[in-house]
Amino acid sequence: MPIQFDSERQIFKLDSQTTSYVLQIGQYGYLLHLYYGALIPDTDLSYLSYTCTHASQLPRVEMDQPVYFSKDVHRMEYSCNGCGDFRGSALSILRSTGTPDTDIQYVSHKIYAGKPKLPGQPATYAAEDEADTLEILCKDHVSGAEVTLFYTVFSVCGAMTRHVVVRNGSDQPMELQRVLSACVDFHDANDMDFIHLYGNWGKERSFERSPLLHGTQSVASKRGCSSHAHNPFIALCSHDATEESGDAYGFNLVYTGNFLASAEMDSDGGARVLIGINPEGFSWRLEPGESFCAPEAVMVYSNEGLGGMSRIFHRLYRNNLCRGPWKNKERPILINNWEATYFKFDEEKLYDIAKTASELGIEMLVMDDGWFGSRDSARSGLGDWFVNENKIKGGLGRLTERVNALGMKFGIWFEPEMVSRDSELFRKHPEWALQTPCRHMSIARYQYVLDMSRPDVRDYLFDCIKNVMDNANIAYIKWDFNRSLTEAGSALLEANRQQEVFHRYVLGLYELLERILTAYPDLLLEGCASGGGRFDPAWLYYSPQFWTSDDTDAIERLYIQYGTSLCYPASTMGAHVSACPNHQVRRNTPLETRGNVAMAGTFGYELDLTKLTDEEKETVRRQCTDYHKYYDLIHNGDLYRLISPWKDHSRCAWSYVAADKSEALVTYVVIRGGVHERYYVRLAGLDADRRYRNETTGQVLAGSTWMNAGICIPEVLHDYDSRVYHLVAVD
Ligand code: GLA
Repeated sequence: MPIQFDSERQIFKLDSQTTSYVLQIGQYGYLLHLYYGALIPDTDLSYLSYTCTHASQLPRVEMDQPVYFSKDVHRMEYSCNGCGDFRGSALSILRSTGTPDTDIQYVSHKIYAGKPKLPGQPATYAAEDEADTLEILCKDHVSGAEVTLFYTVFSVCGAMTRHVVVRNGSDQPMELQRVLSACVDFHDANDMDFIHLYGNWGKERSFERSPLLHGTQSVASKRGCSSHAHNPFIALCSHDATEESGDAYGFNLVYTGNFLASAEMDSDGGARVLIGINPEGFSWRLEPGESFCAPEAVMVYSNEGLGGMSRIFHRLYRNNLCRGPWKNKERPILINNWEATYFKFDEEKLYDIAKTASELGIEMLVMDDGWFGSRDSARSGLGDWFVNENKIKGGLGRLTERVNALGMKFGIWFEPEMVSRDSELFRKHPEWALQTPCRHMSIARYQYVLDMSRPDVRDYLFDCIKNVMDNANIAYIKWDFNRSLTEAGSALLEANRQQEVFHRYVLGLYELLERILTAYPDLLLEGCASGGGRFDPAWLYYSPQFWTSDDTDAIERLYIQYGTSLCYPASTMGAHVSACPNHQVRRNTPLETRGNVAMAGTFGYELDLTKLTDEEKETVRRQCTDYHKYYDLIHNGDLYRLISPWKDHSRCAWSYVAADKSEALVTYVVIRGGVHERYYVRLAGLDADRRYRNETTGQVLAGSTWMNAGICIPEVLHDYDSRVYHLVAVD
């Protein structure tokens, strides 16, 4: 039984095949956290909540207790504000008295097979035999808040998910100030490191690892999106954890709005991890009988280091988060015209690119920004989603037909959530943009953000997209989002609900995405946000791929894709070969290397193919063939990061190993070469006892030899050179 309840000791034990998570109903009905980590056989872990008597000034429920208990030192399962736990709170509710004191106790629980849906929100999903769920109902007996904690354990893959629903069970309104999705109180966090993914435009998900310090380390967004600056992901790992060994715990929020993820180490060596909606700028008014559902948090533990952690995230997201026909179908190789033409194109230019692309094995043309309204630059046109027939003469229908006649699919760019100041839509409906009374509206990229919490805005956008979809054969939409939310007020909400706008925006966005996918189930959506500014699990529920970064330079991409791979699989990472010198960093890299790096994602091109030499075209042709040859291995295989580009900024290597360990694809890239070089890359993840042939050199060695002695890079490679080795089991 993956979830057990020991009624005598009042202990819940949630086991996957590799992990255990244990909690207890403690004194006064408070839920205490006991353990999270590798699978263990014992249930009675109450000894872990032992704590020596602390200073007498620490708050207790009663002074004379049978066993010492203080909410400030015990490991609380879901921490509350204002009643004696001074560490970060998961829950804070302003009750009708105007005070935020919050205190919940166990009432009842349910254990069942499968996993419930989150109403109106993206989440992982599971068949009945894949996962089991524990629901614990708690209550604040004073305010009347009913708080249900949900835990789902994915037995085989080892991941857990959490979410929380708060219901107002009183007859007075209440105001939620904080409702985080998960709280984990580690009993022993000495010798742990804190990992997060920070960044900026063109530099998303940079990897950073530092010792966990006393006090709170946190990452957050209050931009209205998950953001370039921080991903809604943190990990704790043991100091000695490597890619393939040691404890690693990952936390990721299935949410595309403002988030907070923090780790707080206390003086006893314990640490509290919190992850959920960012409480800053958030509150939610709950009328009697109403409920609020916090987004889902994903938790992963592996004792096979960071690589083990990543592989669990990857499996979960590939199998239990991405949906629809494109989840398992091979994604088309695309050519996107953005870096080839920017705003300067017409239907003939697009057709020429498509024609050349079709001759090289590319399968879809994506028409990027600039096809609609008066959109000749970033200054105007967003919101006016009707085709500009001065550019696309004969309309979209004719262009798509011509492209389809080349045997290619057609994709199109939208930025639905935005409106240009200079647009017909803004002139007609200025009140549709987010704004606050009497305050100047900040502008970015000449555009404002539409109020996605408004049903009329969503209806307008749905109709615009529908009109395009119904009048041309569109297989794919790139859904962009190029600025953050400011002055986030909605004209439709009362003053006491304005703090709900950020979350209502996200819920509105989810509703629109769902509506579009329901109307067009075969549509392939690719998310984008000035590159990878909204690369998060919530998006992957709607779009199985996300544009990883606007920085298409192969060397910069090594870092960006390395960080992204911490929790997101290759099948979700948009990666394109672009022109040289690169448009973002002016670097020149070989076309081979650009292909080898882009191959670690959903593959495509983003350059003017008509300008390639015959030799370059031949290389593109070969890359397209390789993409098909290795698709399954890369997209469904297990990732092993072999050399981190961050190590000394000189090399990077990774491999994909088939689930049955019958083959592996190793990619090796030189960032900074040198003289007299001999380089060995030790592989990982192979079957030690099987023998593998390196298809490039013909060399046959045991898996254990490849993993311990390594593959020898037999040539002197120079800056930005790269090699790919395909190893195939021969027995
Ligand atoms: C964003 C995207 C780019 C491109 C431009 C178009 O920056 O990330 O890929 O689509 O918008 O304006």
